[in-house]
Amino acid sequence: MNKIVSLCKRRGFIFQSSEIYGGLANTWDYGPYGVELKNNLKRAWWKAVVNDRDDIFGMDAAILMHPKVWEASGHISSFKDKYRDCLVCKKRIKSDDPRWNPKKPNWCPECGHDGIGLTDIRDFNLMLKTTLGALEIQGIDTYLRPETAQGMFVNFLNILDSRHPKLPFGLAQIGKAFRNEVTPGNFTFRTREFEQMEIEYFVEPKDADKFHEYWVKERFDWYTGLGLKKENLRKRQHPKDELAHYAKACTDIEYNFPFGWSELEGIANRADFDLRQHEEYSSKELKYFDDAAGEKFYPYIIEPSGGIDRSVLAFLADAYYEEKVKDDLRTVLKLDKNLAPTKVAVLPLLKNRPQIVELARKIAQDLKKCFITVYDDTASIGKLYRRQDEVGTLYCVTVDVQSLEDKQATVRDRDTMKQERVSIDRLKEHLSDKLSN
Ligand code: GAP
Repeated sequence: MNKIVSLCKRRGFIFQSSEIYGGLANTWDYGPYGVELKNNLKRAWWKAVVNDRDDIFGMDAAILMHPKVWEASGHISSFKDKYRDCLVCKKRIKSDDPRWNPKKPNWCPECGHDGIGLTDIRDFNLMLKTTLGALEIQGIDTYLRPETAQGMFVNFLNILDSRHPKLPFGLAQIGKAFRNEVTPGNFTFRTREFEQMEIEYFVEPKDADKFHEYWVKERFDWYTGLGLKKENLRKRQHPKDELAHYAKACTDIEYNFPFGWSELEGIANRADFDLRQHEEYSSKELKYFDDAAGEKFYPYIIEPSGGIDRSVLAFLADAYYEEKVKDDLRTVLKLDKNLAPTKVAVLPLLKNRPQIVELARKIAQDLKKCFITVYDDTASIGKLYRRQDEVGTLYCVTVDVQSLEDKQATVRDRDTMKQERVSIDRLKEHLSDKLSN
């Protein structure tokens, strides 16, 4: 994990937020490579769940919602963590921490002190409160959304009225969510501000189990399709006592992070909880009318809900390799071609030869029209290759003295490090073929 955190900072993937002020704990900023990787991941998800399908509509709902939404959703009454503080080491321990020992109520799993004391169990609502309006005393209290899901439930009627979909159909959105987590940590794994990618898939109640299974498989295959190793993924069904207040069933897709198996995405059967609740609190009927059967009913909802930041972390961890090359160690990110932040780097072999630099720059400008391409001449070729390997660039195109004569450049493959000479006027086609295969 330390190696990944250090690579992220060194190469501009992820930085500590507000670092020049000493940082804000557990808050992170995505740098140039990080934002490309994150955007590629979002694009891949959006394509798979919205653009490639006929039955799911995309949405982008507001982060701020009517305060009643959070009463209806159950977040005000139930979205709480239970924790205790250690009076010795001052650490906060969640009451569902597996190290918790009910037989030793005063033992702290963090510092090992026994007897001095842990505080009583306290309840803590995870929502981040904010005030809307110019004056705090006159403003309306509401919350930053703790999940994107509610923005889709409250638009159920709008979608029925504007798109007239037939069951099964879904809504999908990507967006920020905020939770005042009691124990944030593990880099970007658990933070107070994060991004979710969520689908709310409306089905006939009798089909709910079938579609729950279908979505667990779809989502598992999406991760492996983008390169996550099967052996680093597993499915875990929630036991009854672990289910969220809205869920009838839930299966997590877990990833074997460097700190252990942890949730990447949850696929829940939310039954008709949300539509019934919002109908009660808004007094707007939220049933679906089935023309063929001539009846109204509440559809059930299957919800695949994943975290973008957690996914970025999993893809980084999975792609991270250290390989021995002669007497050297190369670090390489073997990210899938759809996710790699940069597809091509153009590197002049000699930066003090103006003709080589000019030709390399011209090639880079030309390739930019088709692929995310960078130009770099700030180090020796060995260092430039290592730098591109570390950020997962798929192909390096090197321009040398010979290129001036034979009009060819060397194309080096990130994973195999094999090199081949390719005619400069065929470079676009050559790289296009490789990237589309
Ligand atoms: N609408 C259902 C829902 O929000 P969740 O299991 O609480 O379910 C879904 O969250 C996903 O959001 C998780 O699987 C995880 O990937 C991501 N997530 C949740 N809390 C997070 C946090 N504090 N930091 C980063 N990602 C988080």
